[in-house]
Amino acid sequence: MLNTAVKAARRAGALIVRASQNVDILTVHSKKQNDYVSEVDHAAEQAIVETLLEAYPSHAILGEEFGEQGKNTEYLWIIDPLDGTTNFLHGFPHYCISIALQHRGVLEQAVIYDPNRNDLFTATKGRGAFLNDRRIRVSKRAKLQEALIGTGFPFRHWSHLDPYLAMFRDMMQRTSGLRRPGSAALDLAYVACGWDDGFWELDLSPWDIAAGALIVKEAGGLVGDLEGNERWLETGNIVAGNPKIFVQLLQVLAPHLTPDLKTPC
Ligand code: IPD
Ligand code: CA
Ligand code: CA
Repeated sequence: MLNTAVKAARRAGALIVRASQNVDILTVHSKKQNDYVSEVDHAAEQAIVETLLEAYPSHAILGEEFGEQGKNTEYLWIIDPLDGTTNFLHGFPHYCISIALQHRGVLEQAVIYDPNRNDLFTATKGRGAFLNDRRIRVSKRAKLQEALIGTGFPFRHWSHLDPYLAMFRDMMQRTSGLRRPGSAALDLAYVACGWDDGFWELDLSPWDIAAGALIVKEAGGLVGDLEGNERWLETGNIVAGNPKIFVQLLQVLAPHLTPDLKTPC
């Protein structure tokens, strides 16, 4: 199943790279404020879905652009055909394809492909995480003060802007650096291979984080919601890191959690 996901991600990657040479002529729509989608997002999702369904016609799909397709209580593919669309549309070469497979509600396979660097991150539950076939692990850095932390800014709706800015203010004074590269899936992949020591972001969607979270866990990292519990996929609020940094991130975030950012009962 992982091989099929890799094939799908590489097909979408080739299509995205071809389109990146002519971003000026693309048709772009605004889904909501600051939320853009191009014909490339659609074409990439279609290519991925075709590849997956050719191999597994009965599986269900949850994709960012076309929503849910098919009913299957066992297998669900969760797809972001282009994570980092704003970067892509500006020619900023940092975006990826993210594909995860859930089996009976448990994440089992994950692929994140960065077509610019030809970086292929993969994981299978219980079998470790890999970058281009080499085993990867989260960093060993133990002190938050020395850590490099990824994040994402709220940019579509502003309901959590104030608590986020308070978190950001606090975090920037306690770490060695913060980064906002613009692709949540790649942010998680970077935690998995130790290029970042941790990551947090609010209000994400399942397709932004499903694959990246499995890759982090299989690389020996921890993933949780803002209180460190298991509800990150449904709330879209996520914290990830190597085990030592993960705990310290939660401590910095804790004073800034409004009731709706806490783990739902
Ligand atoms: C976005 C990127 C970005 C994150 C946003 C996501 P998209 O995905 O992952 O880094 O901050 O919240 O929605 O829209 O480019 O697929
Ligand atoms: Ca996304
Ligand atoms: Ca997307």
